[in-house]
Amino acid sequence: MSYAQITGWGKYAPPLLMTNDDMAKIVDTSDEWIFSRSGIRQRHYSHISTGEMAWLAGEQALAAAGLKADELDLVILGSTTPEEFCPNTASWVKNKLGASKAAAFDLNSACTSWLYGMNVATDMVKSGSIGKALVIGAERISLAMDWSKRESCFLFGDGAGAVVIESSQQKSGLLAAHLSCVPDSRDCLRLPTFGFTPAHFTGDLHVSLDFEGQEIFKSAVKGMADAIATVLEREGLEAEDIDFFVPHQANVRIIQTLAKRLNFPMEKVMVCIDKYANTSAAAIPLALCDALATGRIKPGMKVLTASFGAGLTCGAAVIQWGDRVEPMGHSDAAVPDYEGTVFDLMKDSFAYYGVDAEHLLSK
Ligand code: ACO
Repeated sequence: MSYAQITGWGKYAPPLLMTNDDMAKIVDTSDEWIFSRSGIRQRHYSHISTGEMAWLAGEQALAAAGLKADELDLVILGSTTPEEFCPNTASWVKNKLGASKAAAFDLNSACTSWLYGMNVATDMVKSGSIGKALVIGAERISLAMDWSKRESCFLFGDGAGAVVIESSQQKSGLLAAHLSCVPDSRDCLRLPTFGFTPAHFTGDLHVSLDFEGQEIFKSAVKGMADAIATVLEREGLEAEDIDFFVPHQANVRIIQTLAKRLNFPMEKVMVCIDKYANTSAAAIPLALCDALATGRIKPGMKVLTASFGAGLTCGAAVIQWGDRVEPMGHSDAAVPDYEGTVFDLMKDSFAYYGVDAEHLLSK
């Protein structure tokens, strides 16, 4: 039997930061409120597109795997915020990487997009239809923050994470995965008009996140707990057989509630929401990269992951890590830094949502 081993991983975290104190200059909030309710201290905001972030994370993942782009058979871009739908943004990423023979598609299941993509790519590798794939989660979700909604604008950040998977005879990679979509839960988290509608012709489009935080909270815990129970049972495992847990990073209180429900100690749980906030599809691959860089994932570990997103889509997987936790190499691919502050970067967004932030702009 063949498996789909994770052989490379890489991330891109944009250099500009929006701290909670910065946020408090725009909306009526405070670092104390945001941190105590969500565990978030700051988020990265990007001056480059989702595709460019995906490309940079992909370059790092390929270097970590010691692979050339033209060896890839498939590039999946998991994202809610690709800059182009037609042609898809994955094809831009594939061309930029030089992945000449790879197929390329975007996959959108909101925050779970990377996990959905990993499941699809893993099954393709296991079936023998492809040998090597790059699965990316990337989001420039800062562009969708509605500054008139203090209850949601602080929650999200930008970034990208990517992994390379390769066919292997060693039992490794995604062992069991379960994907789901909670019935009748579409309305608690939506970006209405973020797609084609006749409103394009009348100019009536207004992008604004609709959000019922407490409803999402409850559904997220239940959806992830159910998905985790399914994958553990499928692999014949108990929670104590898991060495490390990398959950979606939407709210530290969701993570704590889930860990408590699983009777899983927080010392074995990856939490990096303080640094990145919720980066949606990028959250788990970003967290995996940081867990590897800080030595928290060790060779041969059983790693559990779980995610949820708008839909509400849910998923969980057990990953058997291979022998290598060090990257084989690093890429020097880079883009020029943004010359300005995070407030300069966001000035059109502030204006769109009617926030007077002139006094915050560099002169
Ligand atoms: N700063 C200060 N006060 C605020 C803010 C803010 N940014 N936002 C809301 N408040 C106020 C409210 O107005 C309310 O005031 P009131 O009691 O006077 O009416 C009070 O704080 C409590 O508001 P709640 O919405 O009840 O706060 P809650 O404890 O539910 O926390 C949160 C809000 C953090 C969003 C929480 O509901 C949550 O974590 N939800 C789930 C996570 C989530 O949805 N993440 C988004 C990602 S979704 C995804 O990844 C798919």
